[in-house]
Amino acid sequence: MRRPKVLVTRRIPEEALRLLSSHFEVDYRGKDTAIPRSEFLRKIKDKEGLLCVLTERVDQQLLDAAPKLKIVSTYSVGFDHIDVPACTKKGVLATNTPGVLTETTADFTWALLLAAARRVVEGDTYMRAGRYKGWDPLMILGSDVHGKTLGVVGFGRIGQAVARRAKGFAMNVLYYDVQRVFPEIEADLGARFAELKDLLRQSDFVSLHAALDARTRHLIDAKALASMKPSAYLINAARGPMVDEAALVKALKAGRLRGAALDVYEREPKMAAGLAKLPNVVLAPHLASASLETRLKMGMMAAQALVDALALGKSPAHPVNKISEV
Ligand code: DGY
Repeated sequence: MRRPKVLVTRRIPEEALRLLSSHFEVDYRGKDTAIPRSEFLRKIKDKEGLLCVLTERVDQQLLDAAPKLKIVSTYSVGFDHIDVPACTKKGVLATNTPGVLTETTADFTWALLLAAARRVVEGDTYMRAGRYKGWDPLMILGSDVHGKTLGVVGFGRIGQAVARRAKGFAMNVLYYDVQRVFPEIEADLGARFAELKDLLRQSDFVSLHAALDARTRHLIDAKALASMKPSAYLINAARGPMVDEAALVKALKAGRLRGAALDVYEREPKMAAGLAKLPNVVLAPHLASASLETRLKMGMMAAQALVDALALGKSPAHPVNKISEV
C-alpha cells in the first residue's frame, strides 16, 4: 500500500520518529539546525504532511510550493510562524501542541523571575571569576519576591499556571487579558483582573504569556516600559516581538527598570544591540518548554497529529484551523 510522504524538518525524539516511520515514508532531515529555505521549498513539493518547528515560516510561498500538502503539524504551542488563514484557504490543516508544555513553561518562567530578582547569574559569574572573598553585607543584593505584586499579561493556560505558583510566594497577583476569566478561576488562583496600564503601574514583576498577533506585537513598548515601577522586572517567556527590545535596552540602561529576564527575542536568534552587555538581564535561548519529558510529549503529539490525519482518517486533537476534510 502507498504510504503518505511526510517531511520532518528537525531532529526529533526517536519515539516520535518511530511512530511516524510506522505509517509514512518519512523524509527525515535529522539535524538540529534550521532547514535552509531553498531546501524547505524543494522538499515540501511531494509531501502530504509536514512536521516543523517554530523557526520555520509556513507562508503563502511555502504553501504554493506544496501542491499535495494536507497538514502542517508544528512542534510548539505557538503558531505565529504559520499563516493560518492561507492554510485554511488552501485546505491545509494546521495543528499545534498545547497543554503538555504548560507546567514546564510556568516552571521556567519562575526560574527566570527568581534568577533575575536574586541575581543568580551574576552570582555564578562572580564565583567562576574567583571574585568571592567571603560574605559581605552589601554584596550582590537583589529584590525580594515573596509578598510582592506579580502582573501576568495573557491569562491562558500558561499565565494561569504561573499565577498558581505565585501562591507559594504569598504574592498579590494581577492579570490582564482581552477577556476576563470566570470568577471561580480568579478566586482559585487568587488573581485580580486589571487593565494593562494599571497592571504595569502596580506590578513588581510583569510576566508575559500572551500569543503573538497584531494586537500583542510591541505591547510592551517604550511608553509601557516607562509606566512600570523603576524597581520592577520584566519577564518574557512568550514571544520576543511582544516587547520593543531596543526600548527595553534603553530603559534598563537608564535605570528606568531594575531588571529583565528573557527567553525569547524580537529577532530570534539575534538580540538587540547592547542587551547582552547588561548585567541586570537574564538571557536564555528559548528554553521554557525544554525539559526531556515535555519535549518528548510535544514530539509525540506533533507526530500523532500527522498519523491521525493522514493514516487513521481521524481529526487530530489540536487543530488551529477548521478544514472540512483532510
Ligand atoms: C512554543 O511551544 O510555542 C514554545 O515557544 C516552545 O516550546
